[in-house]
Amino acid sequence: MSQQHEDPRTPEPSPSAHPGPGLFVVFEGGDGAGKSTQAARLAEALDAAGETVLQTREPGGTPIGEKLRSLVLDHGHGPVDPRTEALLFAAARAAHVEQVILPALASGQVVVCDRYIDSSVAYQGVGRGLGAEDVLGLNRWATQGLLPHLTVLLDVAAEDGRRRRTVRDAGGADRLEAEPDDFHTRNRRAFLDLAAADPERYLVLDAGLGVDELAASVLARVSGLRSAGAGA
Ligand code: TMP
Repeated sequence: MSQQHEDPRTPEPSPSAHPGPGLFVVFEGGDGAGKSTQAARLAEALDAAGETVLQTREPGGTPIGEKLRSLVLDHGHGPVDPRTEALLFAAARAAHVEQVILPALASGQVVVCDRYIDSSVAYQGVGRGLGAEDVLGLNRWATQGLLPHLTVLLDVAAEDGRRRRTVRDAGGADRLEAEPDDFHTRNRRAFLDLAAADPERYLVLDAGLGVDELAASVLARVSGLRSAGAGA
């Protein structure tokens, strides 16, 4: 009797960019842009509107992701070369998508996530110089092709972000935040280029606007998507 072997060359089924009835919203931007505040504001407003919301962050969101977060962000683990850094972020993201985000979307929740693939493309692909295409390819694989319905980009100049962080973080900068302004300026350009290449999927806002004004703009866009049937 002949045995059936799986052909190792068989391609994986093509990944679905937006599986399930949930809605996937990501906040991106430079350090000090105010993403966490806006993610919390959106989650509260959607919750008040009767949605089931999962608020999460990268790197993190799973036990292994939180461990990877401290490995990649904390000082004191010795030198971290750019490829290792990119792989650590991608590993945390793979676990986050598989264990947390996909199940939440499958059950119809709104997932509000602080950072996603664009952070790796900007920081590791462009900031560290690994190449945007290579880092995007790595992350497409890690995430099974999952893309957000909407990415809110809070645009902040490097020096403004640094000033805002100094006020916020008495505890000092992490490994990435501690990079010089020109690194953060390259990242900012990369975020803006990603948004310009796919404007339908992005909302770009000036991070210097007031917290309430920003929150209202984000909520209007997300509510519009929901009522237009996105993720339903
Ligand atoms: P956070 O402070 O916004 O949570 O982000 C942690 C730091 O990690 C921030 O400096 C951006 C950086 N980062 C990357 O370099 N690549 C990534 O893929 C992610 C998610 C974050």
